[in-house]
Amino acid sequence: MSLLLAESFAERGARERAVSLLDPQSARELIGPFARLSSPYLAAQSVVPQSDDGTVVMRGTIGGERACVVATDGRFLGGSIGEIGGAKIAGSLELARRDFERGTPTRMVLALDTGGIRLQEANLGILAVTEICDAIVALRMLMPVVAVIAGRVGVYGGLSLSTALCSTIIVSEGARIGLNGPDVVETESGIDEMDSSDRPLIWRVTGGRMRFEAGFASELVADDVPSIRSAVERAFADPHPLPPLDPPEFPDPQLDRDAFLRAMGIDP
Ligand code: COA
Repeated sequence: MSLLLAESFAERGARERAVSLLDPQSARELIGPFARLSSPYLAAQSVVPQSDDGTVVMRGTIGGERACVVATDGRFLGGSIGEIGGAKIAGSLELARRDFERGTPTRMVLALDTGGIRLQEANLGILAVTEICDAIVALRMLMPVVAVIAGRVGVYGGLSLSTALCSTIIVSEGARIGLNGPDVVETESGIDEMDSSDRPLIWRVTGGRMRFEAGFASELVADDVPSIRSAVERAFADPHPLPPLDPPEFPDPQLDRDAFLRAMGIDP
């Protein structure tokens, strides 16, 4: 691997990342900034909204096939997902499923860079994540759904659950994947549990390499656009869908703690 990376993916904004994953000259943005679909909830909380709500939907082709890349903007409120951005992601996934059913399959890539559900729009963000998860599960039974986690933030919170449902997860060493973010762990459990300013610790626990080696990601790539593009094309090379998810039966939540853990196969 060259030490001089000419085309960093992480240093690009969401729009440029989406364009870079599509075939040259094929990108066309849907519901872009001029549609002025920004969050109606932020101004009341003294936060300046962004006219694309930090989520970019880009149509085009990948390997000559119809494709859609949805990219979140880690520079706007940590790439967090509220009502509008969440609807853009879920809507794109649902349209890709309809495209498949109409006989025009659309390759779907989620280039996520996000601190998860937007704290300023908590309940709406939770609803959005459930819709996104639902739509991924429906689409991955028909064709691959590819996640690219290669931004500066990585993917945290509810969107890490959505990522885990994708059929291929491409991660870079500089990215991170985690459920509770370090800020949240420190706030809830104290600095002895997690010092959110200790960046080497954060990467040792949730960094891309660690996640790949532990089997949470399918491919570890360099922070380099051509490498990430080839990984995305490889992910679609085998168009076979995944079987439906078959989650184990959940134990009765009324059980006491130890019985619940035993029912989950965990020794209390
Ligand atoms: N909602 C709203 N804003 C968020 C956010 C979220 N879920 N996640 C991150 N941000 C904001 C931060 O508040 C910060 O804003 P500021 O620049 O105005 O201070 C900005 O995004 C960048 O985050 P920062 O913490 O400075 O960057 P970092 O690289 O050190 O860490 C995270 C990024 C995502 C790891 C860290 O912000 C974090 O732990 N967030 C919580 C993630 C989480 O547990 N989410 C659960 C919600 S489902």
